[in-house]
Parts: sequence; C-alpha cells; structure tokens
Amino acid sequence: MNRKKFLKTCGLACVSGTAIVTLLQSCASSHYYATSELTENSLKVLKTEFTQDKRGQAINRKYVLVKAENLNFPIYLYKLNETEYSALWMECTHQGAELSAHGEYLTCPSHGAEFDKFGNVTEGPAQKNLRKFKTTVEGQYIFIQLS
Ligand code: FES
Repeated sequence: MNRKKFLKTCGLACVSGTAIVTLLQSCASSHYYATSELTENSLKVLKTEFTQDKRGQAINRKYVLVKAENLNFPIYLYKLNETEYSALWMECTHQGAELSAHGEYLTCPSHGAEFDKFGNVTEGPAQKNLRKFKTTVEGQYIFIQLS
C-alpha cells in the first residue's frame, strides 16, 4: 500500500469511527428512564417526568421508560393526555426480545415486529398484542398497576 492510499484509508476509518460514536451517543440519549417508586402492586411515577428543562425552556416528552429492580423488562409509558396514559410491557410477543421505543411506536430488533403506542401489532411476525397495564392518575402521580 502506498502512502497516499494508506492516508486515505486511515482518514475514512477515522471519519467512520466518529460518525458511529456520534450515532451511538444520540441513540443513548433519546430514551429517558423515569424515576419510579414501587408501591404494593404498582409503580408510581411523577407526572413531571414528562417535562424536560432544556436551557430554561420546558419541553414535553411523549413517553418515558420505566424500570424497576424486580422487572425483567422496562415499561413504555406514553402520555395520551393529562389523565390518560398507555403503559406497555416491552417484551416482544413473538420470541421475547426487548423492544425499542421510537416515539409513538415500538420495534423489535430481533425479527422486525412493530407495535403502536397502544400495544397493537402493526407488523409481524408477532401476532399477539403487547401486555398492557392499567394506569391511574392521582395528584402529581401516575400509578401503573402491575397486577
Ligand atoms: S422476537 Fe420480536 S419479532 Fe421475533
């Protein structure tokens, strides 16, 4: 390999590496995990978790992800309005992979199934809708009923 070809190859590798790191960082920051508290049979989430302060401006989140120590998968919590939320178990109904959230829908990285924000299958191979949890709102809190 001559010097010019070597420098060109190194330059491309450097640019590709930078692009991959940037892409991974943007993916990592696109999901917000809300702080939650496990009460008897529910997870308690503050409504303010749907608001983000970005340089002094309040920005509303459409959804947050909720994790708890004893749960194998996160819960996707989508805000429909001030009193209604959609809470979905993020386990694919095809073969049990963890789903990825993308705003108003979820996808499965294993075989490409898709679900809408209500947990309905919109693309196979999954055939069953996602497990849904009942939610209630009391004061400043959203309660996700786990059983
Ligand atoms: S495990 Fe999700 S589509 Fe197969």
